[in-house]
Amino acid sequence: MSILRTLLIAVSVVLYLTYTLELHLLFPDLADIRAWPHLLSAVFFFVFKPPIPLSTRPHVHVQPFTRHIVAVGDLHGDLPNARRVLNFAGVADEYGNWTGDTDFFVQTGDIIDRGDDTILLFQWMDRLRIQASSTGGVMLSHLGNHEWMNMIGDWRYVYPTEIKTFGTVAARQHALSTGHIGRSWAANYTTASRLPLHPSLGAPNAPYPPHLYQKDADERAYYEYYDDKEPLSHSALSFVHGGLSPTYKDLTPFPTKINEVSASLMAKLQRRVPPPPHPPNPYPGLPIDSTQQEIELYDGNGPLWYRGWALESDEKICSEVEEVLAKTGTRRMIMGHTPDLQGIVARCNGKVIIIDTGISHAYGGALSALSIHYTLTPVLGNGSGKKQRWIEREIVSALYPDRQEVLVEDEREVLGDFSGF
Ligand SMILES: *[C@@H]1O[C@H](CO)[C@@H](O)[C@H](O)[C@H]1NC(C)=O
Ligand SMILES: *[C@@H]1O[C@H](CO)[C@@H](O)[C@H](O)[C@H]1NC(C)=O
Ligand SMILES: *[C@@H]1O[C@H](CO)[C@@H](O)[C@H](O)[C@H]1NC(C)=O
Repeated sequence: MSILRTLLIAVSVVLYLTYTLELHLLFPDLADIRAWPHLLSAVFFFVFKPPIPLSTRPHVHVQPFTRHIVAVGDLHGDLPNARRVLNFAGVADEYGNWTGDTDFFVQTGDIIDRGDDTILLFQWMDRLRIQASSTGGVMLSHLGNHEWMNMIGDWRYVYPTEIKTFGTVAARQHALSTGHIGRSWAANYTTASRLPLHPSLGAPNAPYPPHLYQKDADERAYYEYYDDKEPLSHSALSFVHGGLSPTYKDLTPFPTKINEVSASLMAKLQRRVPPPPHPPNPYPGLPIDSTQQEIELYDGNGPLWYRGWALESDEKICSEVEEVLAKTGTRRMIMGHTPDLQGIVARCNGKVIIIDTGISHAYGGALSALSIHYTLTPVLGNGSGKKQRWIEREIVSALYPDRQEVLVEDEREVLGDFSGF
């Protein structure tokens, strides 16, 4: 009798799961019930209508998306401290090799000056970049005002002991122009970047606004950044060394314009015969054929030197920040350049983040890294295709050797077809 009951229950369970299209819970081989035209299901579909039409069942490829970004500020000639930071931030292991645990590693410039490890640091960055690309990771490297100073011949912050690591002044000039460091700068470093948090926005550094928007970009209210039509349009971050001043003229298309001007200025500097370094020689300045845009790139209001986001009052910057974020298609801007030896500074609810904490022993500040965890999670069984609901979540934290501090925790719901990435 009890055998019969058990059998009955088992059959009922199978029938019920067949009816609800969940038979694969018992038989994983039958995961795709829709490809199961057997007699049993045919009979049951005939007798009972399926509870949910097959076509509106969630698509198999609607998957959560996650992305992990780590950013580090000024390193100033200190390899051991840089190694410590990348190690506790999970970017590199104890041997300095890429771990594969981060999708993007960003360094915001000023690797050179105030320390002796210039050659070792740039070589390490080159090695990490190759290791990253072999595991699907990406490194975004930036030129700081100190890299530019050295290209120009302004060597005020170069230690004599550091020049010795190159051998001679001439050898150093060669390395930084057409030698291994200068070539790496020209090929793999930029002055600005825009990093989309989700790949549906395009590749890193794709110009914003996208071509589609170019025509009416000026008429669009710059404040519409949670636009219903493009809900993720500003789910991106900007990185520069100094800062994106609200009055800097070449903000858009971002970061393309800045990087074009930057590449043309670098080509002129790397082509000219290196002037005798200052000091003791006179300050050589920019090449005489520099354009107005190139001069503005390198001046105090340009992306390499601007300090307004770090030094002005909250009242002023928190009203100015919206316009710059809207223009650059980003939701927060991250920069180095102005050190706070206590730690990473987040202002205007994390729309402005300053990550120069004086990592180098020249400053003796805090060892720090910025970590960003982004997730886009589908709300299953509630909408599909363009009507699919997603929970977008971004957690921005400051990492230190002994603690972590959450700076921003944002969550919102977005609607759209962001599957297939
Ligand atoms: C780290 O990378 C170097 C090459 O750059 C390699 O020789 C070494 O074996 C790697 N170490 C580990 C532990 O993977
Ligand atoms: C730039 O980086 C790539 C790896 O992403 C590397 O293969 C290439 O050699 C680098 N170029 C220079 C000039 O260092
Ligand atoms: C779908 O989302 C709407 C709006 O949030 C909610 O009212 C409804 O209960 C949801 N339905 C299901 C089946 O989760």
